[in-house]
Amino acid sequence: MEVIICPNAHRVGEVAAAKAARIAAAIGPKVVLGVATGSSPVQTFAELARLAKAGELDLSQASAFALDEYVGIAEGHPQSYHQIIRKTVTEPMGLDPARVHVPDGFADDLATACAAYEEAIAAAGGVDIQFLGLGTNGHIGFNEPTSSLSSRTRIKTLAARTRQDNARFFASIEDVPRHCLTQGLGTIMDARHVILVATGSGKAHAIAQVIEGPITAMFPGSVLQLHQQATIVIDEEAAAELALAEYFKQTYANLPDWQRVSL
Ligand code: GLP
Repeated sequence: MEVIICPNAHRVGEVAAAKAARIAAAIGPKVVLGVATGSSPVQTFAELARLAKAGELDLSQASAFALDEYVGIAEGHPQSYHQIIRKTVTEPMGLDPARVHVPDGFADDLATACAAYEEAIAAAGGVDIQFLGLGTNGHIGFNEPTSSLSSRTRIKTLAARTRQDNARFFASIEDVPRHCLTQGLGTIMDARHVILVATGSGKAHAIAQVIEGPITAMFPGSVLQLHQQATIVIDEEAAAELALAEYFKQTYANLPDWQRVSL
């Protein structure tokens, strides 16, 4: 696990995007991105869009797979992840909408939709770079505490904490859906590279658990300790409860130039 502590949230977006761009350049224009919703990766995606527009990153044939989708709201609802991904990923990065996939939380047969989503990821050759945010309860995607560490795409019930956290996007907490489809932890772990971004003091406890705590389904993000290519990019506030914060800073400050993300 590589941990990069940045002075502020803006820098988190720049560093995460630069890291992703370097990996994407090595893979080529058919790179398969795994994309997340939530506020955390918004700056990272904006920076990737800037690099693509500037001709510094070729996403012309890229595909994308979103982590999750609500069940119980209409596809056209502004908070549906179909809409959020369109606004934060597809349009700004100039991706072909036909190559951008979001779990079908509006399907009549949700189990079949989940199986089809797993098949679509496999047919695309798997995810090359998976972007992740982190819930305050340790969830990645919508894999709530006690999710199986080897789970695949499936329907989940949202935790009360998640519904409270996401109530800010809805008129009231009553309007927050109770169910979702989400890639499983096993699905996420199959991605070749993972880049998790988190900012702000509200994420400090979850970040400390994910990086330094035990691997446990009670903190689903901790499964990333088993991933061979996981990078965690955080600001000082999100790093506040890390026992090894100084070690991570020293490690990054002393990386050989060829390993460091250049900005
Ligand atoms: C949301 C999403 C997650 C996201 C997390 C944190 O509900 N399903 O993918 O990472 O919660 O969101 P935010 O980045 O807004 O704090």
